[in-house]
Amino acid sequence: MAQQEDVFKKIVSHAKEYGFVFQSSEIYDGLAAVYDYGQNGVEMKNNIKRYWWDAMTLLHENIVGIDSAIFMHPTIWKASGHVDAFNDPLIDNRDSKKRYRADVLIEEDLAKLDDKIEKEVAKAKKRFGDSFDEDMFRQTNPRVMEYTKQREDLHERFAKAMNDNNLDELRQIIIDREIVCPISGTKNWTEVRQFNLMFKTEMGSTADGAMTVYLRPETAQGIFVNYLNVQKTGRMRLPFGIAQIGKAFRNEIVARQFIFRMREFEQMEMQFFVRPGQELEWFEYWKQWRLRWHKALGLGDSKYRYHDHDKLAHYANAATDIEFEMPFGFKEVEGIHSRTNFDLSQHEKFSGKNIKYFDPELNESYTPYVIETSIGVDRMFLSVLCSSYEEQKLEGGDTRVVLHLPAALAPVKCAVMPLVRKDGLPEKAQEIVNDLKFDFATRYDEKDSIGKRYRRQDAIGTPFCITVDHQTLEDSTVTLRERDSMEQTRVNIADLHKLIHDNVSLTSLLRKLA
Ligand code: GAP
Repeated sequence: MAQQEDVFKKIVSHAKEYGFVFQSSEIYDGLAAVYDYGQNGVEMKNNIKRYWWDAMTLLHENIVGIDSAIFMHPTIWKASGHVDAFNDPLIDNRDSKKRYRADVLIEEDLAKLDDKIEKEVAKAKKRFGDSFDEDMFRQTNPRVMEYTKQREDLHERFAKAMNDNNLDELRQIIIDREIVCPISGTKNWTEVRQFNLMFKTEMGSTADGAMTVYLRPETAQGIFVNYLNVQKTGRMRLPFGIAQIGKAFRNEIVARQFIFRMREFEQMEMQFFVRPGQELEWFEYWKQWRLRWHKALGLGDSKYRYHDHDKLAHYANAATDIEFEMPFGFKEVEGIHSRTNFDLSQHEKFSGKNIKYFDPELNESYTPYVIETSIGVDRMFLSVLCSSYEEQKLEGGDTRVVLHLPAALAPVKCAVMPLVRKDGLPEKAQEIVNDLKFDFATRYDEKDSIGKRYRRQDAIGTPFCITVDHQTLEDSTVTLRERDSMEQTRVNIADLHKLIHDNVSLTSLLRKLA
């Protein structure tokens, strides 16, 4: 685990050193849990968004996009439940004066029990070798049985406390489990209090009677309140979906792990409107389809898992997360929820407007049910970055840091380099750049030795380096170096475009999903 933490630290500094992610307001000592994307980060982020947008809107004829405003009428947040219930249960340690999410402290305690069970199993596996019967061991080993029972009891108690919104019980669990503050090491805890996560601001001058508005904590509500506009103007018939990418804001208290939990972040959300009664079928469809979207990137199938929710929000009738194995464990990257007709009914109630859908096939009006897929751009970015990072030992004792980014997401697709800065090679290289730049993010690089230039491109995950040498002037061929294998092949300049396109285009990725 400590080793993984070290790797994570290296990834964070790599992200800064190579222009992917910077701490916001750094020269003013930073602003906690707020980050800026640099010259390479923004390109990769845009590529992730494009992959999602095209997969949703191009591959599904019945999904269209919108771009709604961040500010919305404040009653929307009353209707959605965010004003009253978008809270985190917080607890303070009186000695360290640090504030924690009570639910997170308990979840970490549950994870410790899981770890203990897995350690026992791994030890036994090593001891017994091929003859090891894992199921039998889990069911009969006294220590594993004891930990499993503790885990189940704790989990049940925790789920009930969360469901009942019982803050005293959450605190009692922390006391009973003897959970200590990681900073002070003491159990000197305050009461648990609810804390609303929405940022507020004022709209209009005070003289006019300013109105309190919120920075949206999710993009989904902008879709709900526009669903009938889109349905009518786009002549959409159920089932249909609306996709949106945009900023969301949450005053996260426990903001940790770099861009995993931010106060300003970006979401890619899609609400899929269906006939009542068909929602679980569609939930299953989207659950499968979204995982395929992730896996098509080739980051490793074993890095994903579903986490079905035990605790369903009162309006949901099914919910699952897609979790990704980050260096700090399996973590939620995307949520898929069957939200019934809750949101639309609430907006109907609070706005007093009829926003029912008229179904021409059934000749009746009703409130559609909704399946939501909601993924954080920044978390997706982090999962791609973490799983692509490698420190490689090369033959001959050399090392390199390489980002094995999926080529379609890489910020730069190819770098063109003259072997030397003379004899007409820079001009030839520039000519190639001028041709490729219309279709691919292409860089020209002539500084330092060729080896150093390759390393620089490896570090930002550039799939191809093209080297122009003296032979190029004679036969119009160049060296094409592939990032992962470092293999170099001699290719014709005329073939470059197709070769690069076949490997880096979003189209090849999208075709895997079709
Ligand atoms: N509309 C549903 C919704 O917002 P959510 O589970 O609260 O659901 C969806 O958020 C996704 O947004 C998460 O799976 C995560 O990827 C991302 N997300 C949520 N809070 C975040 C934060 N503070 N920082 C970065 N990403 C966040």
